[in-house]
Amino acid sequence: MNRKLEQYLSEHTTPEDPVLEDLYRQTHIRFVNPNMSTGQLQGKFLELISKMIKPENILEIGTFTGYSAICLAKGLKPGGKLITIEINDELTAFARSYFCRAGLDSGIIQLTGNALDIIPDINLMFDLVFIDGDKREYVDYYRLIIDKVKPGGFILADNVLWGGKVTEAGTSDQQASGIIHFNEMISKEAAVENVIIPIRDGLMLIRKKA
Ligand SMILES: C[S@@+](CC[C@H](N)C(=O)[O-])C[C@H]1O[C@@H](n2cnc3c(N)ncnc32)[C@H](O)[C@@H]1O
Repeated sequence: MNRKLEQYLSEHTTPEDPVLEDLYRQTHIRFVNPNMSTGQLQGKFLELISKMIKPENILEIGTFTGYSAICLAKGLKPGGKLITIEINDELTAFARSYFCRAGLDSGIIQLTGNALDIIPDINLMFDLVFIDGDKREYVDYYRLIIDKVKPGGFILADNVLWGGKVTEAGTSDQQASGIIHFNEMISKEAAVENVIIPIRDGLMLIRKKA
């Protein structure tokens, strides 16, 4: 998308919450690969989807510095919980400080470790799951979480276009291969219905049939 159009979208979307604006800026100053963070447009989209669903329980795979967790947690029902899993323990305190500043710390539970090890021990049913961890593991995350999604519940999966590489058959990029495999699997999966939304790097919305 060209810069003018990007600017137009930004100017015609609700302005960014100042806490998120600061989180985004600090993420870019202090961390490597800051482009992994959600930003204003996708963040507002996640927030509004969550506000439509009004979830009791949300699961996020891949916290990074906490931008998407804050957006999703804004839609929780009163007393609801968002569990977010991050493998890198150097990010825990930074993300926590922003959950506090956003006034959402009581609703956000951080689990540190490999989501593939942690998810089997979570005994909760989720209204909404956000998959945003290692792209090579998307199929594994899906298989682990699908029985923990309530009938009629939703899964969002980020980066499902992977910079357009998903159209390159036979790519040697392992992350792209992981995403290609995931997209193919979901489009053939009878238990769910789905759509790819071409926002940012592609966001897949998946609904588990009731
Ligand atoms: C794209 S970033 C997440 C960005 C964040 N959701 C946001 O939108 O602001 C991916 C994160 O997943 C984490 N990650 C990768 N593999 C993981 C795994 N198996 N379990 C838990 N976290 C993982 C990485 O350390 C990284 O911080």
